[in-house]
Amino acid sequence: MRIVVMVSGSGTNLQSILDAVAAGELPLDIAAVGADKPCLGIERAQAAGVPTFLVQPGDYADRPSWNRALEEKIASYNPDYIVFAGFMRIVDAQLVERFKNRIINTHPALLPSFPGAHGVRDALAHGVKITGLTVHFVDAGVDTGPILAQAAVPVLDDDTEETLHERIKVQERRLLVQTIASLAESHGAASDGAASDS
Ligand code: GRF
Repeated sequence: MRIVVMVSGSGTNLQSILDAVAAGELPLDIAAVGADKPCLGIERAQAAGVPTFLVQPGDYADRPSWNRALEEKIASYNPDYIVFAGFMRIVDAQLVERFKNRIINTHPALLPSFPGAHGVRDALAHGVKITGLTVHFVDAGVDTGPILAQAAVPVLDDDTEETLHERIKVQERRLLVQTIASLAESHGAASDGAASDS
């Protein structure tokens, strides 16, 4: 199985994937890591010897052109799955359709509650006592696609957005790797089936 991972920030979720692959716990190839801007996640990929690319919105005339460039760049690596690991951009319906049910996103809240860019802040502001994270397929909406896995994280009385997000991210890194491992297992079983059918 081949994956492309997209990042925008510190890349700790990406690091957990890189570490699991290096430890032989995730049977897949990371074909490339891409980002919408230079970031620590790209540096982590480079340090691991994984090919990287940038597709920056500012380099394109408009949003559709950026989406087409990103779509073609991802497609050029011929991935089975694309993992949005803290990729803070919304992609358009055409890109989602091209990779239908093959783009996985991780979101730091229990969807369908608190979608969008500020899932942790919004949950805290609402006063929920339990929040968490969701790993899901990307569809044409914002954080609305089919849910693959979730984990709950309690909100503590003295939590700030930062402390809560850090505790969520510990669970997020674990569940993201676990979800990708399940997809890799199904992918391997499907490939074995195809091989024995032929
Ligand atoms: C994660 O919590 C992700 O769900 C959110 O941003 C964070 C990314 O963290 N959208 P990192 O870049 O993987 O460290």
